[in-house]
Amino acid sequence: MMDWRKLGLVICALNLLPLVCFCATFVPADNYLIDCGSTTPTSVGNRNFTSDTLSKKLLTTQREILASTSANSVSSKDDEAPLYKTARVFTGSSKYTFPINQKGRHWIRFYFFPFIYDKYNLNAAKFVVSTQTIVLISGLTMQKNPFMKEYSINVTTDILEITFRPLDSSVAFVNAIEVVSVPDDLIADDALNLNPSMTYSGLGTQALETVWRVNMGGPVVTSGVDPLQRTWVTDQKFLRTSNLANDVSNIPAVKYTFGGPTQFTAPPSVYGTAAEMNTNTSTGGDTNINFNVTWQFDVEPGFQYLVRAHFCDIVSKALNLLYFNVYIDSMAAAKELDLSSKGNNVLGVPYFTDLVTPIADSNKLNVSIGPSTSYKDNPNAILNGLEIMKMNNSIGSLSANAASGAGGDSSGSSSSHVGLIAGVSVGVVSAVVLAGVCCILCRKRRRLAQQRQSKTWIPLSVNDTHTMGSKYSNGTTISAASNFEYRVPFAEVKEGTNNFDESWVIGVGGFGKVYKGELRDGRKVAVKRGNPLSQQGIAEFRTEIEMLSQFRHRHLVSLIGYCDENNEMILIYEYMENGTLKSHLYGSGLPSLSWKQRLEICIGSARGLHYLHTGYAKAVIHRDVKSANILLDENLMAKVADFGLSKTGPELDQTHVSTAVKGSFGYLDPEYFRRQQLTEKSDVYSFGVVLFEVLCARPVIDPSLPREKVNLAEWAMKFLKKGQLQQIIDTALAGKIKPESLRKFGETAEKCLADYGVDRPSMGDVLWNLEYALQLQEAEVQGDPEENSTNMIGELSPQVNNFHQDANVSSASAVQFETSTVDDLSGVSMSRVFSQLVKSEGR
Ligand SMILES: *[C@@H]1O[C@H](CO)[C@@H](O)[C@H](O)[C@H]1NC(C)=O
Ligand SMILES: *[C@@H]1O[C@H](CO)[C@@H](O)[C@H](O)[C@H]1NC(C)=O
Ligand SMILES: *[C@@H]1O[C@H](CO)[C@@H](O)[C@H](O)[C@H]1NC(C)=O
Ligand SMILES: *[C@@H]1O[C@H](CO)[C@@H](O)[C@H](O)[C@H]1NC(C)=O
Ligand SMILES: *[C@@H]1O[C@H](CO)[C@@H](O)[C@H](O)[C@H]1NC(C)=O
Ligand SMILES: *[C@@H]1O[C@H](CO)[C@@H](O)[C@H](O)[C@H]1NC(C)=O
Repeated sequence: MMDWRKLGLVICALNLLPLVCFCATFVPADNYLIDCGSTTPTSVGNRNFTSDTLSKKLLTTQREILASTSANSVSSKDDEAPLYKTARVFTGSSKYTFPINQKGRHWIRFYFFPFIYDKYNLNAAKFVVSTQTIVLISGLTMQKNPFMKEYSINVTTDILEITFRPLDSSVAFVNAIEVVSVPDDLIADDALNLNPSMTYSGLGTQALETVWRVNMGGPVVTSGVDPLQRTWVTDQKFLRTSNLANDVSNIPAVKYTFGGPTQFTAPPSVYGTAAEMNTNTSTGGDTNINFNVTWQFDVEPGFQYLVRAHFCDIVSKALNLLYFNVYIDSMAAAKELDLSSKGNNVLGVPYFTDLVTPIADSNKLNVSIGPSTSYKDNPNAILNGLEIMKMNNSIGSLSANAASGAGGDSSGSSSSHVGLIAGVSVGVVSAVVLAGVCCILCRKRRRLAQQRQSKTWIPLSVNDTHTMGSKYSNGTTISAASNFEYRVPFAEVKEGTNNFDESWVIGVGGFGKVYKGELRDGRKVAVKRGNPLSQQGIAEFRTEIEMLSQFRHRHLVSLIGYCDENNEMILIYEYMENGTLKSHLYGSGLPSLSWKQRLEICIGSARGLHYLHTGYAKAVIHRDVKSANILLDENLMAKVADFGLSKTGPELDQTHVSTAVKGSFGYLDPEYFRRQQLTEKSDVYSFGVVLFEVLCARPVIDPSLPREKVNLAEWAMKFLKKGQLQQIIDTALAGKIKPESLRKFGETAEKCLADYGVDRPSMGDVLWNLEYALQLQEAEVQGDPEENSTNMIGELSPQVNNFHQDANVSSASAVQFETSTVDDLSGVSMSRVFSQLVKSEGR
């Protein structure tokens, strides 16, 4: 079973163009296309609009007035031109009723062309349009030309009602209506709130009105080209100083990658063109690169706006050359944005960021891009696309003049049924350009879609390089007071790490280096120093601190403090005396752990993970569970950590790049590849691999071994299924594990490794089973169970052991730990560098 998105991505060659395009088709569960006032179906591009006179059951109205026009002002360039030829006019409150097949976000699009028909001058029409919960329109400002209004609303009822209600004895009208399902993950629940800078949560239930949708540096992208029938207009007229921007186009450079934005986020024609800074004086540019490129948009004051900025580095010659800032009005939206790392070190990978503005107090919104001030080698800045969406206000309205609530039902004059159709022939030529006809229809599986709906993964990482967009952790306001006790002066950090002594480095990650250190109060710490050039913005750094300080558990490595002086981004964690679990299993020459110690370590880490999955309003997926990320304190108590990691989260990126297989490769959930979707059960899978690692004390991937043994999970499962698990256990454990305990342990590991996440136990179940395995080990035998080896497993095969150091994991955080204050309260917080928040329904 495949993800619908994968199914939808079909590579095909365009007949006319010598380029290969990735085309995608989304098959919406609800797809109502209504040409209002028409008596025949109308086709627009490859979509067929039905007539609302033919499908009567959708509409309840007192009086049927079908209007049509021959006006030439219906532009033939417009794909939707045929829809504007007819309209339905309402003299009283009237309602369209749409049964909803699948709840969730839907586009609602209204097409309007205020022509004059009979005694009705639609230019003077004044009316309210609402759903059961939201006022969409109240007193529409008419335009001379045809126009479309687009909304996206999360429909949570079985029926969507759209009511048209004339105001002030005027009439209401509409030329066409669309109610179409939106892919569930198009709008995530979280965004970055600009002021104050923190996570905005709750977009999922917001009604949104598309105010502007712009393709920077490129042509109009019509609804026939966009896979979700959106229209993207050009940016020229919004530029404040147009000669400061340069159009660039390089559509073939766009590389959609798995896990990142898709064609549904924005098509290649949007990501493949951009506006960049113009430094060519002969075209009006400015060689003094110290300027911003600014676009200005009309907005309605009194509303918050969701601004989605799309980026794709189609201009750089090499990686890590482009660093730039993005501003909304004067608020920083992204600082030192480095698209190379957002695209996981592949150029041309699309990226977007969702930003929520404060309530607008001006009728203009400025969006600016400018070069980085700290990275001056290659000054430039780009923007590929922009969407500005109005968010519903607190009374559920998208219109400032909506006093009257939604779903109004005042009735107009009752009247006899009048069917008026003016049979004026229409000279509208619809030049529908089917530029996107390379696409193949693919069926979306409803069930999968529903699964998708229930879980949306949101990468949280500060140095996450492959996000589906910019996502920020859930977080409340970071107030100076609440985090004051965490702040550590830079001088103290510097002193405590011997001025960031290179020889004190205990790990290197994408974020920067990890040093061991000591605070002035004598506490030993691990200091993670953010690379000042890393793309991590201050806002994200702060959010991370906020989040970290919320995750406190004795089985999670805790955050001790942070330092943000001098633009530093430093996180300080507790130091773990006994280093990684991995180092105690193989490759380091440390004495072997007993079975009981191993079980206790597994139980402790399972507790930590269980807490991550369930202890917070939103489940957190660790995403990089491995023995190198389980640290041991002075008492060998296990704590889950994730610093000192390899450079980037390898999992997400290595789907098509099978080179450079990293240490964590052997821990990867195979279902993750199939569904492209991470759940808590992916951690369960990885944890299952750790269990085998603990049992067998060998690397999870050892390429030096014969083929069938290379992958620990496969190899161990083979023996387990044959009932010969005892043959592959660590020689050091020979004769020391009770068969029942081993059986329980093996069974647990096996369940964790189930092919499908649904078949895997929860971390809570795993925990329970491991505790049981420990009891089985300890039962019957009085005294020290490790020594009394009656009924123990005696034989061991010679296949086992003495594996050399796993060279792939270079940066295991070998840290010890000192403070004696570790108890349930001081517990542990959790770096989210390789974690993900999961929005799960019903949590
Ligand atoms: C639209 O209708 C035409 C005939 O009226 C039909 O051939 C075509 O397949 C329909 N298209 C879709 C997308 O249903
Ligand atoms: C729609 O709203 C419901 C809650 O009312 C939420 O659970 C769901 O995730 C939302 N769907 C989308 C696509 O945001
Ligand atoms: C600047 O623009 C002019 C006119 O388009 C062009 O001929 C010239 O090559 C450009 N210079 C650079 C450095 O790109
Ligand atoms: C947008 O930019 C213009 C020109 O810099 C400025 O006058 C205006 O105040 C800005 N608007 C907002 C809302 O910041
Ligand atoms: C760009 O705009 C931002 C926000 O208004 C401002 O803080 C910054 O100084 C501007 N940069 C330049 C070079 O004008
Ligand atoms: C509209 O926005 C408010 C927040 O401003 C939110 O609480 C509400 O759920 C949204 N939707 C409706 C139907 O009011």
